[in-house]
Amino acid sequence: MRSARGLIGGDPVEPLRLFPLRYPWAYAHVQQAKRNTWFPEEAPLHDDVQDWHERLTEEERQAVEILLGFFNPMESLVTSNLLLALYPHLTAPEVRLYLARQAWEEANHAMAFEYVIKTLPVDRERVFGMLEEHPAVAAKAAFQRRLTAEILKPDLDLATIEGRQRLLRNLVGFFVILEGIFFYSGFAFALSFRRRNCLRGLGTIIDWVLKDESLHLSFGVHLIQAFLQENPEVRTPALGEELRRMILEAVALEEAYNQALLPRPVLGLHAGSLNAYVRYVADRRLEELGLGPHFHTPNPFRWLAAEIDLPEQVNFFEARNVNYEVARPRE
Ligand SMILES: [Fe+2]
Ligand SMILES: [Fe+2]
Repeated sequence: MRSARGLIGGDPVEPLRLFPLRYPWAYAHVQQAKRNTWFPEEAPLHDDVQDWHERLTEEERQAVEILLGFFNPMESLVTSNLLLALYPHLTAPEVRLYLARQAWEEANHAMAFEYVIKTLPVDRERVFGMLEEHPAVAAKAAFQRRLTAEILKPDLDLATIEGRQRLLRNLVGFFVILEGIFFYSGFAFALSFRRRNCLRGLGTIIDWVLKDESLHLSFGVHLIQAFLQENPEVRTPALGEELRRMILEAVALEEAYNQALLPRPVLGLHAGSLNAYVRYVADRRLEELGLGPHFHTPNPFRWLAAEIDLPEQVNFFEARNVNYEVARPRE
């Protein structure tokens, strides 16, 4: 029999004993993730290469490079955080199963962006240099790295409220902010090309990544809610305020990034509309954390909601409508 322990505090090297499930939502996310399996090369990019040469303007090409220069390293940062910061501490078996699956998906995303970078005639040096050299990309990466570093500090003690609050900040920073805010202007921008019947292969890859990321976000929100339920003492008004500030800081970083992505309008999109979208998305994330919306901005991209409203997808636009199948725990 498994002992009646929670999300944290188990033996980190104990072999997996899954049933009976304690967190059926985590197992349901694993099952859904399996159904979402895809491989980058299934999306042909021949037409994208032709589009690159014949249809894209220089400004559009530069914006795509900034997009790839952000997405690609972020996949690595999130993988490191999962394996180094979260896996050692989150010891519930079905949660670990999902973290392992998610780590594979993030690796698959890194390979997918690598496939795009190597197939499109992008300036490879510029794309990979973006993380160091582009202030808006570097600032977002630094924001995430700081959260991972906080967990890796030797003084982390999850027996204390402070330690568990530190873990919660990491969960919010990665699952809600990185998975749930930082990726979304990129998604909107990339899918705008497909809307013009352009870069359709990249659009397909973005669809698949988006499907995975929305499941990661959904898993993260469930995880945070379960963690707060088990550790109600960490939920202080001061921490709530701090989480709200973190999300607002992330929105400011994202707005600077959007400005860098689109110094001038591209494809009819301008930084202002992407910023409005980010504010709309951030409000949904604040609501999921029970913190209440801040911006009250309407969704400027209704077309995007329609475009990605696929079956079997967690609908992150209607955060409460979490569309996954609940597994039946085996007796
Ligand atoms: Fe990813
Ligand atoms: Fe992710």
